[in-house]
Order: sequence, then structure tokens, then C-alpha cells
Amino acid sequence: KTRAALDSIEQQFDLPTKKLEEIVEQMLWEFGKGLSEQPTKETKDTFMPMIPTYLQHIPSGKETGTFLALDLGGTNLRVCEVTLLGDSKWTMRQQKYKVSQALKMGEVAALFDYIANSVDQFLTEIGTTGDPNEKLYLGFTFSFPVAQTALAKGTLINWTKGFECKNAVGKDVAQLLQDALDRKHIHVKCSALVNDTAGTLMAAAYERGDCLCGGIFGTGTNGAYVEDVAKITKESKTKEELEQAKKDGLDKMVVNTEWGAFDNERVVMPFTIFDSRVDRISINPRKQAFEKMISGMYLGEVTRNVVLHLVDAQVIFKGFSSKSLNAHYGLDTAIMSALEAFSLPNSDSAADPIASIRKCITKDLGIADELVSDADCVAVARVSEIVGTRGCRLSACALAATIKQTGNDKSDKEVKFGLDGSLVEFYPRFDQRVKDALRELLGEDVVKRVVIDLAKDGSGVGAALCAQAAMAMEAKAK
Ligand code: BG6
Ligand code: GLC
Repeated sequence: KTRAALDSIEQQFDLPTKKLEEIVEQMLWEFGKGLSEQPTKETKDTFMPMIPTYLQHIPSGKETGTFLALDLGGTNLRVCEVTLLGDSKWTMRQQKYKVSQALKMGEVAALFDYIANSVDQFLTEIGTTGDPNEKLYLGFTFSFPVAQTALAKGTLINWTKGFECKNAVGKDVAQLLQDALDRKHIHVKCSALVNDTAGTLMAAAYERGDCLCGGIFGTGTNGAYVEDVAKITKESKTKEELEQAKKDGLDKMVVNTEWGAFDNERVVMPFTIFDSRVDRISINPRKQAFEKMISGMYLGEVTRNVVLHLVDAQVIFKGFSSKSLNAHYGLDTAIMSALEAFSLPNSDSAADPIASIRKCITKDLGIADELVSDADCVAVARVSEIVGTRGCRLSACALAATIKQTGNDKSDKEVKFGLDGSLVEFYPRFDQRVKDALRELLGEDVVKRVVIDLAKDGSGVGAALCAQAAMAMEAKAK
């Protein structure tokens, strides 16, 4: 019975190479659509936004200075002081702050007051090494879709990842932050607004030279890559402007794809009944379809739904569930890492995998020990692996589409990705599973040229680099 139930789950979550290829093709179609068409009220959720970021100067590694960076949208709110040392190196002092559920759902002014308070607290408790008489420049990593109109200006298109603050959509988020800082008389200037993916890309370029794409596989998923300005036709640059940009060496621009919103129309991805359940009860149904199969906020929730199905089918735990298993988001994605850790070579739990899985099931999921057989342990770990592997294979599609979009499948250059987020950092064999799927999609010759670096905390450094660029531009204009 267990075998048959698992086989059926496996079948539903299976993504053979051919399916992956179809997904990449459809993604490339959405790339093209997003680059050429300004979304309207009616079409805005039907293709990826592909947002031009106005970032055209890719860092050289020589940038210097001390800046503040603020990071909202990942697991924690972070305030950082970043010092760029000018030799591709940097130092960082940071403090993490929790954003409560109430703040995520309340008035946006309350959220920004909390953020300004955190900056204040950071400056009081940790202090800054910058000149106390000079205004500090701050780069704001705001990891949500923003229609950017300048380096420090952009309006929120919609919330993602469980945020739903009122009176925020359509507002300039850099201004919201500046107003909150000014209300508290904090001597800080928000001089750059940047998505975490673009920040990660900038940081990877600063540290390691040329980088094609900054990607996040964490609470949410998204990527920003370096595109030819000529291909961003929705920005309707004239031929003369394009030629001038080329002469000035500014013929490239970082584009924030917002690939988490891929296939909201359900053209190509195989949605299981478990995905539909997760989507239906989320606060943004029919949105962020790709993200809901891949990212840390949702992987555990998909797994929870499959595990509950096996309980209801009387396949595991003698048909009993628990409070955690019945609670929305009651199975944290971190539990999947623990469930799958046993197959890692040299992991501490490798000695007795069943015992470590049993501990997760009884301790983290609250199932009574006497209800859990060894076969149940194997089944639950297998479900986690099936759901996680699908996520990794889909993640590979996004990387493959970026490689193809930029012609790097046909070049002979090294192709660099700077990746960050809790899945990249903690999910067992994430990079191996992604690379296996990439190999199926693009072949060994291309994969040999692909370098995937962990750009830990990169977006803070990226935000500092953007603040540095803003300061340099201001000085030049004076
Ligand atoms: C952090 C970055 O390291 O990773 C953030 O600084 C980013 O900008 C985050 O949003 C993503 O990971 P997670 O897992 O915290 O959502
Ligand atoms: C969500 C956000 C996106 C962000 C990503 C990773 O998809 O919409 O802006 O980059 O999460 O944090």
C-alpha cells in the first residue's frame, strides 16, 4: 500500500527532461513578452514583469566607502553597515530584526516606522564608523516587485511572500522609508532602491568579476540578469539613444525578471492537487505560481499537504495526524532539510537515518512515537525528497532560460551565477540537483562553463554598491 501510494506521488511530481525543455521554452517566451510589453491592469499577472532596474554600471571591485544597507523581504529584516575596501573585499557589521505577522499585514506606515526604529537602534547600539557629521547613504534592498523609475525611486507593484500591508501598492517605497527616517530625525539618506537579486548580482560582480545573474532561492525565488538594452523594447528607447548608450559603454542593463511569477496562466507547469491546495489558501491565489513550487515559504507547505494525504489514505501514522500537520504552514521547509540530511555523506545523522527522521516526525511534527513505523519514516523522507527535487529541477529551468536568453548556451565563456537564500545555503544537495537538471537541459559542455557561487548576504553589499553609485553620481553633478 505504501509503495503504491508513493509511486503515485512520484508520478505526479515527476519532471522528465522533455517537460523541463518545454518549461524553458515557455519561460523564454515570457522573457520576450515581459521585455517587450508594458503590463496593463488586465495582463499584469499573465507574464513575468521583467523590470528594468536602471543599474548599468556593473561594479569593478574598486569601489570604496562606508554605507548603510537595509534588507527587507527575506527571513529577517537586516540593518548592515558595509565597508567596501576597494580590492573586491568588504566588511560588514549587521543586526537582524524579526518582522511580526501583525506588521506584515498591518498599515504600511507602521512597518516603515518599525524599520526606521531598527535603523535607529542599530546606530545607537552598534554605531557607525562613518563621519558622524556627514549624512550616511543607505541602500535599500526591498525584495518585492517594484516598478523602478530611477535608482532611488520605485513603486510597489504587488506584495509577495506573505506580506500584505495596507496602503502600500502603488507607493514609492524609497520615499516611504525616507519619510519614516525623517519622522525620527535619523540623519540617513535612502539613495538607492534595489531588489535582492540585483543586489546579489552586484555583490558577486564586485567580488568575483563578470557575473551573468543574481538569483535568490530562499523564502521566495527570483533572478536578475544582465540584458542588452536593445532587447528591452518596452522602454521604447530611440535608435539614437541606443547608439549613444552603446558609445558610452552603457548598452547593458540589469533586469529583474520576477521569475517567481512565471506561468501564472498554467500553460506548461504540471500542477498537482497539492499545489492547487497550497495556492487556494495562500493570500495571493493564482499568483507566483513558479515560486509556490520552488521556494522556502511553500516547499514545506506542499510537503505537508502530501503527508496529510498519506495520513488520510491510512498509509502512514496509522491514519492519525497532529496539530502541526493540520496547521497551515505547519511544516517548515527547514524540516525538509532535516528529513533529507541523512543521505548526505558525512552528516552526523548518517549513522542512524531512521532515528533522526523519527525525531523530526515526533518532535517537529508532533506525531506520537507509537504511531510511527520505520516504513513511515522512509515514506515521509521520500515525500520530502520528491517535492524538493521537483523544486530544484524547476530552479534549473530558470537558470537554463537565462543562459539561453543571453546566448550563453552558444558562447565559450564562463557563465557565472551568484546565488543566495536559505535553500542554496541549507537544503541538502540543492546545487547537485540543480546541476543534474541543467546538464539534462544544456549538455555537459555548457554545464562545464557554469559557475554557481554562494553569494551569502550579497544583497547587503549590493545595496551598498548602489548607494556608492548614487553618491558618486551626486558628487559628479555638483
Ligand atoms: C539574504 C539576503 O542573505 O538572503 C536577502 O541578504 C535575501 O536580501 C535573502 O532576501 C533570501 O533568503 P531567505 O532565505 O532569507 O529568504
Ligand atoms: C519574491 C519577490 C522578489 C524577490 C524574491 C526573492 O519573488 O517578489 O522581488 O526577489 O521573492 O526574495
